Amino acid sequence: MPLIRPTIEPTADGSPTLRHPLLGDCYHSVRGALGEAGHVFIGHGFRAACEKRREDGSSRPLRIFEAGFGSGLNAWLTLVAADEAGCPVEYHAAELYPVAPEVAAALGYTDDPRFMQLHAARWETHERISPLFTLKKQEKALERMEFDGIFDLVYYDAFAPDTQPELWTAELFGRIGRAMRPGGLLVTYSAKGTVKQALRAAGFEVHRLPGALGKRHMLRAVRL
Ligand SMILES: C[S@@+](CC[C@H](N)C(=O)[O-])C[C@H]1O[C@@H](n2cnc3c(N)ncnc32)[C@H](O)[C@@H]1O
Repeated sequence: MPLIRPTIEPTADGSPTLRHPLLGDCYHSVRGALGEAGHVFIGHGFRAACEKRREDGSSRPLRIFEAGFGSGLNAWLTLVAADEAGCPVEYHAAELYPVAPEVAAALGYTDDPRFMQLHAARWETHERISPLFTLKKQEKALERMEFDGIFDLVYYDAFAPDTQPELWTAELFGRIGRAMRPGGLLVTYSAKGTVKQALRAAGFEVHRLPGALGKRHMLRAVRL
């Protein structure tokens, strides 16, 4: 499998991010990698989905799909949050450009050995990383994914719509929506008008929420 070696760059909250060698974009907001991931994906995604699961009285694991595994930061924060919440998670992630593990290690996000286990995990198969967390990484283009099951929560963390417009279409959101349960949540850092329109056209109810670290808005969409 070809691995990429993105460069490491600082962000304003002191946590580093990566810059993609081919597409040129950063993997996180320059305002803060950790701050953005914690706010958008954990705060408004994972915690909200856990709360719904609790209200529903469900004992099933929460099934999460991440568009763009990248540095593994969202997956690791979710693993930690799953332990805190006592919520079992089945985590699926698509990634077209897997990052070399030594680059992920050099980010220095944590000493927790499970962070590197996420990177060492085999692809295309379910791997247990902790008692409450399994991971299935798929090396595939999102636009060609065949979704494996029904998801409760989607972390939509593709590069920006200006960089990869093909990943922000109603057609793709429609396919993702059909792999989600009604009432399932999709969270993304982008609040662009065209993204809202595409999500609505794909059958989501779209809510604007305060964005991370002073950014005006982010989106949380509910699959109708
Ligand atoms: C904004 S970054 C987010 C990465 C990750 N969530 C993180 O926290 O580091 C977008 C990710 O999408 C991946 N990507 C780009 N094009 C893709 C495609 N067509 N299919 C799947 N993944 C893609 C990139 O390699 C990158 O890892």
